[in-house]
Amino acid sequence: MAKQAGRVARGARMVGKLVLLLMLVGVVSGGIAYWRSSNDCPHPDRAKPTQAMRAYIHCTYGPPSALRYETLPRPVPNDSQVLVRVLAVSVNPADWHEMRGTPMIARPSMGWRVPSEIAMGTDFAGVVETVGKRVTRFHPGDSVFGAASGAFAEYVVARESRLMPKPARITMAQAASIPIAAITALQGVRDQGAVRAGSRVLVNGASGGVGTYAVQIAKALGAEVTGVCSSRNAAMVRAIGADHVIDYTTVDFTQQPDRYDVIIDMVGNHPLGTMRQVLAPRGTYVMIGGPSGRWFDPMPRAAATMVYSWLGDQPMHFFIARITQPDLDVLRALIDSGKVTPVVDRTYRFDQLPEAMAYLETGRARGKVVVSIP
Ligand SMILES: NC(=O)c1ccc[n+]([C@@H]2O[C@H](COP(=O)([O-])OP(=O)(O)OC[C@H]3O[C@@H](n4cnc5c(N)ncnc54)[C@H](OP(=O)(O)O)[C@@H]3O)[C@@H](O)[C@H]2O)c1
Repeated sequence: MAKQAGRVARGARMVGKLVLLLMLVGVVSGGIAYWRSSNDCPHPDRAKPTQAMRAYIHCTYGPPSALRYETLPRPVPNDSQVLVRVLAVSVNPADWHEMRGTPMIARPSMGWRVPSEIAMGTDFAGVVETVGKRVTRFHPGDSVFGAASGAFAEYVVARESRLMPKPARITMAQAASIPIAAITALQGVRDQGAVRAGSRVLVNGASGGVGTYAVQIAKALGAEVTGVCSSRNAAMVRAIGADHVIDYTTVDFTQQPDRYDVIIDMVGNHPLGTMRQVLAPRGTYVMIGGPSGRWFDPMPRAAATMVYSWLGDQPMHFFIARITQPDLDVLRALIDSGKVTPVVDRTYRFDQLPEAMAYLETGRARGKVVVSIP
């Protein structure tokens, strides 16, 4: 008996030492990765390129004032890419997360100490300048919108599959507001939420960039939509099609008797257990956004959705949207038909892009925040 207890104690000590060793290796290799991380930020004194453009880059993590407005060489498209002269870009929460390097848990992919990718921006609209040899769908002069890394610039190269012709009925600024926000709303409502005609859908955060698309897409699918927003945005959310609006400054929707087949949540300000009580018995919760923090948020809530899904009959999903050509096409068709109209809050000048980022960071945007490039 005493021998067995001794063996257990020795085993526990070994496991303890192993865990300590692994933690030490983790801390040391994390530290090395942190100090070795670098990027190829241009030196301010370098010669100006001949085919130049103005663009925003970030060499360090920090507030909007840390963004650098630079003269850079114009990108050159390869055979399957398109060079677009950018006329408008939109800013997304993903841009300010990238700018600040938060949450820290994402640093292994973003760059530990400094951003590994210095180019900024994704969503844009503009006019095709040149096309690669293998490009068949676009020609110089076409008005397009799409997504590509480094969109906060006068010129951007994009894969053909991430571009769409701009619907004629909307402006360049509206077109630039589509890619990330509208794709996220589409995939959240249609795929994760499986919304169909007659579904009772609650959109929490209905007045923001993703929310304004989610309300309209759910309506286009025939749902009965309730939008949650503050009083100042209630009229706008009703105008884009919401059947009911709940002003969260006066009414807590989790305390009301209504139950929903699908909740699309951009805010994540109520516990998941409470969300389950607001769902119909087999209802679905879709987490698109959640509380943001310096270290981990919103990942713990995203992980908790999986646990709640395993434990109950009400599916709870978190997902990261993917920009695909078929979905860009679905959005183009929804906009062409007039079922969806992008809502643009403010449009800034290109030299004011840091101000646009600062405004988005306040969390007070109504619809999308756009920057136009003359
Ligand atoms: N999973 C993905 O792939 C994915 C993709 C895109 C975005 N996201 C995330 O989705 C979230 C929303 O993105 P977004 O572009 O829509 O952001 P946004 O435009 O900054 O959203 C701002 C909106 O949030 C609303 N809001 C703030 N507090 C609220 C509350 N307590 N209840 C209801 N609404 C509230 C504000 O409305 P009021 O002014 O009326 O308060 C404002 O209209 C972010 O966390 C973002 O990171 C995730």
